Amino acid sequence: MSEGPVKRDFFGSRFGVIAATAGSAIGLGNIWRFPYVAGENGGGAFLIIYLVFVFLIGIPVMLSEFTIGRSAQRNAFGSFKKLAPGKPWYFTGLMGVAAAFMIMAFYTAVAGWTLEYLYQSVINGFSGLSSAQMNSMFYDFIGSPLRPLVWFFGFMAITASIIMAGVQKGIEKYNKILMPMLFVLLVVLVVRSVTLPGSMGGISFLFKPDFSKITASTILEALGQAFFSLSIGMGTLITYGSYIQKKENLGSTAFSVAIADTLVAVLAGLAIFPAVFAFDLVPNSGEGLVYITLPNIFQQMQGGYFFAIAFFLLLSVAALTSTISVLEVIVAFFSEELGIKRRQATMLSVVLTSILGVFTVLSFNSMSGVTVFGLTIFELLNFTSANILLPLGGFLIVMFVAWYMGKENARKELSNNGKLKVKYIPFYVFAVKFIAPLAIAFIFLQGLGLIHFS
Ligand code: TRP
Repeated sequence: MSEGPVKRDFFGSRFGVIAATAGSAIGLGNIWRFPYVAGENGGGAFLIIYLVFVFLIGIPVMLSEFTIGRSAQRNAFGSFKKLAPGKPWYFTGLMGVAAAFMIMAFYTAVAGWTLEYLYQSVINGFSGLSSAQMNSMFYDFIGSPLRPLVWFFGFMAITASIIMAGVQKGIEKYNKILMPMLFVLLVVLVVRSVTLPGSMGGISFLFKPDFSKITASTILEALGQAFFSLSIGMGTLITYGSYIQKKENLGSTAFSVAIADTLVAVLAGLAIFPAVFAFDLVPNSGEGLVYITLPNIFQQMQGGYFFAIAFFLLLSVAALTSTISVLEVIVAFFSEELGIKRRQATMLSVVLTSILGVFTVLSFNSMSGVTVFGLTIFELLNFTSANILLPLGGFLIVMFVAWYMGKENARKELSNNGKLKVKYIPFYVFAVKFIAPLAIAFIFLQGLGLIHFS
């Protein structure tokens, strides 16, 4: 159904475009994943490498997605079909939709934990718990299916209701409210954290470049983190790009979003590590840091009741603006390709992603014994989407613009048909032709274990 004029919704303002796109990029990846990955990989040194990747690879991939989406005015799959009729490039879009299913399934499960923790903060559920009890609180919670399932469906329902309201009246409207709110909450938490006595240890942990910790695998971690954090490689930004009006400047949008995403990652590190060090805790890794260590800190801190609520609210908001963007990939695909209404497409998408999502929730309890290649369902979806589908998708996306669409078409789209100055085009073309594909090929082969560099 992607032929013929399809009436499409669009983002109404420049701020709306940035809020929605930054909303997609800023998520659990920044607040939960970045601080600990950076901490474990040399802190400041990791940060420098990460920044280089954001600019050399992240922004070019992001610009390529915008270019594809805005010139085609279609969903991730339909865009390739329209721009390359009869060619197998649409496979890239299909892969993106598949990745969206997987990310939606496990990401919503984690987002659901955040709602439980927001609820616990409000009812003062952490009060008087020892570290050990805090630990078992988390594992008991994810270890029995009922509560995580309820929160999973709750989060899915909130995401779906915003999607159903439309691009401008749903996605854009809520991002315009939620993103400034996220920023304020984050700044409040940073101020609290860095003014705690003993916070210096955390600051140097995050910023002091320890180049001795940099190895080949650190470099790959930085690249993977950049992909996941910027929401690139699966057509989220093709879909959002298709809602950007022709008068907007794609180059400056990509640049602002990349800066905002990086800033939030650094601020999240500044909200978390100084507090961790001030309370003499170990910078624990992964889910533990946010769901076990932080409640522990809040409980001991002056005004901790309010800071706990602020933090889990922040995390929920960040996750929500990201799940919206992932679900939208699927909704736009069904709606345009099956020719059905947004409402029906949303319901269909929710049913299908929930089936997969239920398994990710159960993989921490009743189905924890079910493994494929030694990975639980949650781990498998996490691994396959981030380590296989995103890099492969990113690779195909830049190759498509560089070698199929061509420099002139890209220039036309990026310059709004010659109206904007686009001095960066030579750098962009070099990045999509050489730097990005080579670097991505490297992470991809390493991710699959086909080559080993450490
Ligand atoms: N970038 C988001 C985060 O950091 C997650 C996300 C949203 C994402 N859309 C995506 C990741 C598309 C990869 C691809 O939490």
